[in-house]
Amino acid sequence: MLLRRREEPIQLKTPAQIAVMREAGLVVATALGAVTGAIEPGISTAELDAIAERAIRSAGATPSFKGYHGYPACICTSVNEQIVHGIPSTRQLLKPGDLISVDCGAIVHGYHGDAAVTVGVGELGQPLADLAGACELALRAGIAQARPGGHLTDISHAIEQSVLASGAYGIIREYTGHGIGTSMHMPPAVPNYGRPGRGPLLAEGMTLAIEPMLVLGSPVTRLLADGWTVISADGSSAAHFEHTVAITADGPVVLTAAAAGQAGLEARDGS
Ligand code: MF3
Ligand code: CO
Repeated sequence: MLLRRREEPIQLKTPAQIAVMREAGLVVATALGAVTGAIEPGISTAELDAIAERAIRSAGATPSFKGYHGYPACICTSVNEQIVHGIPSTRQLLKPGDLISVDCGAIVHGYHGDAAVTVGVGELGQPLADLAGACELALRAGIAQARPGGHLTDISHAIEQSVLASGAYGIIREYTGHGIGTSMHMPPAVPNYGRPGRGPLLAEGMTLAIEPMLVLGSPVTRLLADGWTVISADGSSAAHFEHTVAITADGPVVLTAAAAGQAGLEARDGS
């Protein structure tokens, strides 16, 4: 989301509400799995959007992106120098070697899930594969800090440190992660860089969408004339990974993990 600075309370969820958010997260994970499974040279990003919409609606959920401030699709498809919020199009056909981020959101019983993955179309060149790997690793480092007693920017700092350890990548600063719950974008903003130990104390029941965005070159961005698509100003390729995460007494729980992660979640619940 676009960085906003304002102080508002952070919404806390009960374990029952977090269980509903897991349902929404599972729908998002399933939709992303369907979309990434269909990615191949020649497919259009509009076809990918149709696949996501079918997956979301057939699960009885509602796509959260469609109609959000007038956004026209169920997913964002951001290819190569597009960083986030690319609009699916029948005219955008994927080519071998493209790097595409797919971002998806769904609502179940009023609660949101939001996640993104970046994948290659066919074989990726090593620099792009490394970029995507660094971004996914940074997301995992951030998630590990989403625990009670820490500060918000412990997440930010862990992401930045992870990126620095991976290579000379640009971290996007003009867009951040966000609180999520009964709306997709809620306080607090979750920056992907910064000093640790700052910002609100993290507490049980908070749910955050953590989403590092990296580029091969300069992190300066430009908004296309469509009013949505964010690209790197220098045209360098971008990667973006996102998970919706709950802060629990036991630590972070990734609500948008794929179904394979469900067993672990249930073992934790004792159900
Ligand atoms: N995951 C995206 C974000 O947090 C949401 C896409 S915005 C929409 O910025 F307008 F496409 F819905
Ligand atoms: Co998001």
